[in-house]
Amino acid sequence: MDNPFEILGIGPEADEEEIVQAYRQRVKQTHPDQGGSVDAFQQVKRAYEEIKNGDSVEKFALEYQRAKRAHEDGNVEDEETQVGTHIEYLNYEVLDDYGWGLHDDDLFENAAAADLSAEDYGEFIAPPNENVLKAAERSGQRWPFACRGGACANCAVVVVEGEMEMPSNHILSSEMMDEGVRLSCISAPKTDELKIVYNIKHLPGLDELRLPAQQVKKAYLGK
Ligand code: FES
Repeated sequence: MDNPFEILGIGPEADEEEIVQAYRQRVKQTHPDQGGSVDAFQQVKRAYEEIKNGDSVEKFALEYQRAKRAHEDGNVEDEETQVGTHIEYLNYEVLDDYGWGLHDDDLFENAAAADLSAEDYGEFIAPPNENVLKAAERSGQRWPFACRGGACANCAVVVVEGEMEMPSNHILSSEMMDEGVRLSCISAPKTDELKIVYNIKHLPGLDELRLPAQQVKKAYLGK
């Protein structure tokens, strides 16, 4: 399914009232009785359901934390309790401000100790098999992207710890892949823990692989 936020014409940070308003407006626009198509109407309904059921993601996160705590306390009988990936993220743009390097051993320890905003540093849970960009958006993040199909570098991240599986690669060089660069819109976590740096557009070679801002706006807002 396409991004439900795009279908409703809102950003992932929209609150409940904005979501409901957007849904009502899109339902009116696409309703077959008003000249819309059944497909478009159904798509809007599915998008709304998916966003509304975001609470299932919160429930999932709680289950994950419970399982993780039990695991740390040694109260688990098997590894089946692990229900997703714990992702710690950091915005590349703050590295310069603090004099940190991408390959510093203590990069994420330093980030955790610094007083960074939730936009720049934090953590979330990625449900199994969900791509990292989508999981980040579900948790309220608004990371860069454009095509959502592996054809640009707008959504690229660097994996500092753990592994992400990218099913195909048509644009990243082997050097970039070796450096841990992955496209977050098509890559899912492969490990239970993941540390990634996002917004890496200024890394060598990535700028020219990005789609221009206008296309980003078009892809994001559908305008
Ligand atoms: S947004 Fe273009 S590859 Fe991910």
